[in-house]
Order: sequence, then structure tokens, then C-alpha cells
Amino acid sequence: MKFDIVLFDFDGTIAESGEGIVRCARWALEQMGKPVPDDGVLRRFVGPPLVASFQELCGLSEDEARRAVAIYRERYSQVGLFEARIYPGIAPLLRALRRSGAWVAVASAKPEAFLVRILEHFGLSDCFDAVAGTTMENQSADKRAQLLAAMPEGAEARRACMVGDRKFDVAAGRALGMHAVGVGYGYGSREELEAAGADFFAEDVAALCAHLLEPDERPRGRMITFEGTDGCGKSTQMEMLAGWLGERGYEVTATREPGGCPIAERIREVILSLDSSGMSAECEALLYAAARIEHVRSVVLPALRLGKIVLCDRFLDSSMAYQAAGRELGEDFIRQINRAASEAVTPDCTLLFDIDRDCARARMAQGAPLDRLESEREDFFDRVARAYDRIAREAPQRVRRIDAARGVQEVFADVLAAVKDNLD
Ligand code: TYD
Repeated sequence: MKFDIVLFDFDGTIAESGEGIVRCARWALEQMGKPVPDDGVLRRFVGPPLVASFQELCGLSEDEARRAVAIYRERYSQVGLFEARIYPGIAPLLRALRRSGAWVAVASAKPEAFLVRILEHFGLSDCFDAVAGTTMENQSADKRAQLLAAMPEGAEARRACMVGDRKFDVAAGRALGMHAVGVGYGYGSREELEAAGADFFAEDVAALCAHLLEPDERPRGRMITFEGTDGCGKSTQMEMLAGWLGERGYEVTATREPGGCPIAERIREVILSLDSSGMSAECEALLYAAARIEHVRSVVLPALRLGKIVLCDRFLDSSMAYQAAGRELGEDFIRQINRAASEAVTPDCTLLFDIDRDCARARMAQGAPLDRLESEREDFFDRVARAYDRIAREAPQRVRRIDAARGVQEVFADVLAAVKDNLD
């Protein structure tokens, strides 16, 4: 653990909340019949206390500024609050910090009641030991008050590291003797942050991770693959899991094979088209492998490096089941042509959806017209099913079998139980 206390500013550090803030400021000025400055000026509302911004940036008197804040909040509390997005990589960073044993808190000039609602909305509530904001009545201009309130009881300020994107944050942290980190992806500039005395400047979230965490503590992405014979319902389950994870603040990349990126999607069309009937088994296997390495390099690895959870509808096991076994090309050949992909990444968890052929066929009959692989003969699918069986037996740690012949919700309960061990 590099720092045992880490305090984060919110706007411009955890979330890009400029959109909501700018819209609410504009709305307040319009309601009061005041001139509205352009967006460049309005964006400077992000971070500092609102009363000061209405006075300094829009020339309002103190009384007018307070009225403007009240009007601003009417809109903010309904809609503006959620006109934000959490910076990619922040949720995994927060979780990794908590896991390392650090005290992690938010210190913001936003009213605490708003902060709590936003964190809950974005699924980040459980990422913090403390949330320190202002009250609706007293929006203190002094960031030091919030930084001190965010500390664990009795801890000394000089043990803490604070992270912020504006000079106010850095200056307040420095004034308290904290280690001050300025971030370059928010609303302040490098010059502003260094002039305020930042001890460290983090250009992006990856640099912030490297500064705050030891190498072995840094966020690690997870790859969860969905496998099974055609018609097993795995795509529906994957969508449900992506939604469930997103609601809890996990960053998810949902993708599929063959496909998942433009080149691989084009290869997919060639492989699955009924026009490709007569394609040799070797050509088919090589096309799947070609699509896979492109997808791994352009989508899967970049997402894992950012600590995201990658959900992938089919992966290498499909080639082992369909091409090695179904097409009888043998495992060695398939392993060899997929070496580049398998050396780059192995799924952390594979969900194998079990369903018998009759049930799968009935489900497929209700769906889209069959593609080239779905139109194969029954003995092909017998070999595929037997291969999946063997894969599950040989890698029991990685592969979790799920009985897919039940209702969607029952199946989903099993999916959650299987993946929970893989989440931080
Ligand atoms: P898709 O529509 O994604 O299948 P489903 O929705 O039925 O899971 O089409 C992918 C087809 O490609 C599917 O029939 C399985 C096959 N496939 C292989 O044969 N080998 C592979 O390596 C992959 C990824 C898929």
C-alpha cells in the first residue's frame, strides 16, 4: 500500500459532470433573465463553489448569486445530477485501493445529499469509506473543511494523499500538509495544478493507478466467456449480466466471436453466410482464428488493461468444440492456429450452458433463420456437445456448467452465483 488514506475530489476527478453543471447554470441565468455567457465560460463552473462562480463569472451580486444557486439546484436535483459519466478506469481503481487496505473517501464542494445519490446511481456507494460534501445551506468555499471531514477519525492529515483536478483542490491539500496529486483528464490544466503545488501530475487514469498503487495491487480486468451449443440462450444471459454489472458500477465490455470489431465482423459475415457453403473445414477454422486475434488485440486486451470486465459470447472453446471436434480437425491443429490469441489471454471464467438438442432446436425454430453452422447435421452437434463435456471436465476451475433448460431468471441466478467469485 503506497498511501493509507486517499481522498478524491468528485467533479472532474471521479466523474465528468460538466454537462449537468453547465446546463443547470445556463438554466438558472435564463430563469433570472441574466445574460448567459458562452459554454467555455460556463464550463469553469465545474469544481469551485457555485456562489463564487455566479459572482465571478457572471457578474451577479451575492444575493443574486444565492438565488441563482437555489434555481440551479431545482434542476440539478431532478436531472442535472445524472447528466454525468464516471471516467473509464475509475471504478476499478477505487476498488483496487479499497482492496489494498487504504481508506478511500470523496471530498467535494457538492452538497453531501447529492453526492450520496450520484454515487448510488452509478453503483459506486460501496467504493468509499466516507463521503464528505457540504450542506445545502452552507456551501463552504473552503475545500480544507471537506478534506478534513473525509479523513478517518484521529488520523493526521499529512498521512493522506488527495487527488483533484483544480488548483483549489491541490492548494487545500497542500495547506493541510497532504500529498497532493493533480489529474490532467479533468477540468484544470497542468500549469494550474503545478502552480498550486501539486506533488505529482497524473495525465490519465492509468498514470493515477500507477502512482497510487503498487504493481501487484493495480486493477486487473476479468474475462468471462459464454459457451454452449446453438440455441442455449447464452446471449440473453450475457445481456442480463452486463446490465447487472453496469448497475453496480463495474465497467463492462460486452462483445462476441466471431466479430466484436469491424474486421472480425466482416470475417463473421463470410463464415456464417449460407453463400459460403462448401467452404473447407480448414478455411473455416483459420477464419475463426484470424477474427479472434484481431478481436483480442483491438478489443479484449485494451479493455482488460483498463481493469474492465470483458463478457464474450463464445471464445476459443467454441473452436475446440466446433472445429476440432465438430469438423474433426483435431485439437492440435486448432491449438496451433490459435496460439497467438491463447497466449495473449485466457478467460478467468467460462459459463457453459447445457441444453439438450430437442430443447435447443425448439428455441432456434422460433428465432432468426438458421445460419450456415446452425444448419449442420445432427452428428456434427453430437460431436460438439461431447467436446464441451470434455472441456468442462478438463478445466473444472475455469468452466462452470449451467443447466440452461430452465426459466431465464432461474438460469440467471446460477450465472450470478458462478461469476461472483470472479468479481472484486
Ligand atoms: P452466433 O450467432 O454467435 O451463435 P449463437 O448465437 O448460436 O451462439 O454464431 C456463431 C456460430 O459460429 C455458432 O454456430 C458457433 C460458431 N463458432 C465456431 O464454430 N467456432 C468458433 O470459434 C466460434 C467463435 C463460433
